[in-house]
Amino acid sequence: MANQEFLVITQEEIEKNVPMSEYIRAVEEGFAEFARGRVTLPPKVVFHVRSGAMGVMPAFAEDSDALAIKVGNPRDDNREKGLPYITAQVFLYDSDTGLPLALMDGTSITGLRTGAVGGLAAKYLARPDSQVVGIIGGGVQGRTNLMALNETFDIKKVYLAEKVDAVRDQYIKEMSQQLGLDIQAASVEEATRNAEILVAVTGTTTPLVRDEWAHPGMHINAIGSDEPEKQECETAVLKRARVFVDWMAQCERLGDISQGLASGDLRKEDIAGGLGQVIIGEIEGRQSDDQITVYDSTGIAFQDAVSAKMIYQVALERGLGTKASL
Ligand SMILES: NC(=O)c1ccc[n+]([C@@H]2O[C@H](COP(=O)([O-])OP(=O)(O)OC[C@H]3O[C@@H](n4cnc5c(N)ncnc54)[C@H](O)[C@@H]3O)[C@@H](O)[C@H]2O)c1
Repeated sequence: MANQEFLVITQEEIEKNVPMSEYIRAVEEGFAEFARGRVTLPPKVVFHVRSGAMGVMPAFAEDSDALAIKVGNPRDDNREKGLPYITAQVFLYDSDTGLPLALMDGTSITGLRTGAVGGLAAKYLARPDSQVVGIIGGGVQGRTNLMALNETFDIKKVYLAEKVDAVRDQYIKEMSQQLGLDIQAASVEEATRNAEILVAVTGTTTPLVRDEWAHPGMHINAIGSDEPEKQECETAVLKRARVFVDWMAQCERLGDISQGLASGDLRKEDIAGGLGQVIIGEIEGRQSDDQITVYDSTGIAFQDAVSAKMIYQVALERGLGTKASL
């Protein structure tokens, strides 16, 4: 009988042992592989459950040798219960034998890889001298996105727009302490008007980033829209920006651009291309200091797979995880 021993790696082990810089490195390589056609991505399966959904996300990144499946469960009701909006688990496999290598907490991976992807997009698309960050939505992704931006940019000021007072105050207290940054509470308008890099990550269905507030030279990470009805930026912002996507096939259905494409206000030809194409030098990123750039992120399974592989390697090196078998 096959040896089905694998490692169980907890949230605490992941959060304590793996720095944000490692996620950024892993997803950068993953995006390059994706752009070179080296990633197998079956369609993400999402179906409605209770106050949310179950999402099943398999991927195989050939060059990173990362074969994994993530099961995620967002639930609106979880916030009232003091639970994260999204919880998840990732199973990583040996690509040769198909046997499991590790089962790990996917809640932390989802947050950390989403932040890393936002940081990576800004690294390629924002003005390199950007010092002022606006965050709209101070939840899990709003935290990890700031962590990742802090790896690349010399941040002097952060404006946080968060509608729940207690969440806002806790964010400011904890993130300013963790990252040593000057974070100030702000309205959505103030965050948008002041930001050189803006992260919109609320999951709103009424766009919050208004055209009248968006200004030349800014970069916007539209992270919150990963379902058809969600949209963070007014379509007018997207129309005058140079827009990049994580994956066109997914963004046209679920992303910030999806409603504009459906109404005909945006055309596919208006979209510059994928972040991976910028990374491998196939298309140009930002073209001038005055351009508005937008990155439309819907989240792709390979981001979890390459992060899980990287975590597994760290676990082997440091003796983390608990052995289990089936
Ligand atoms: N693109 C990706 O890869 C990706 C990955 C994970 C999550 N997401 C999406 O990102 C969004 C946020 O996820 P999360 O895990 O951070 O959720 P969360 O609940 O932890 O955080 C969202 C925050 O936004 C705040 N908010 C909502 N409406 C607001 C408004 N009008 N003004 C100011 N603040 C407002 C909420 O109070 C909350 O604190 C969701 O839509 C989620 O599906 C995208």
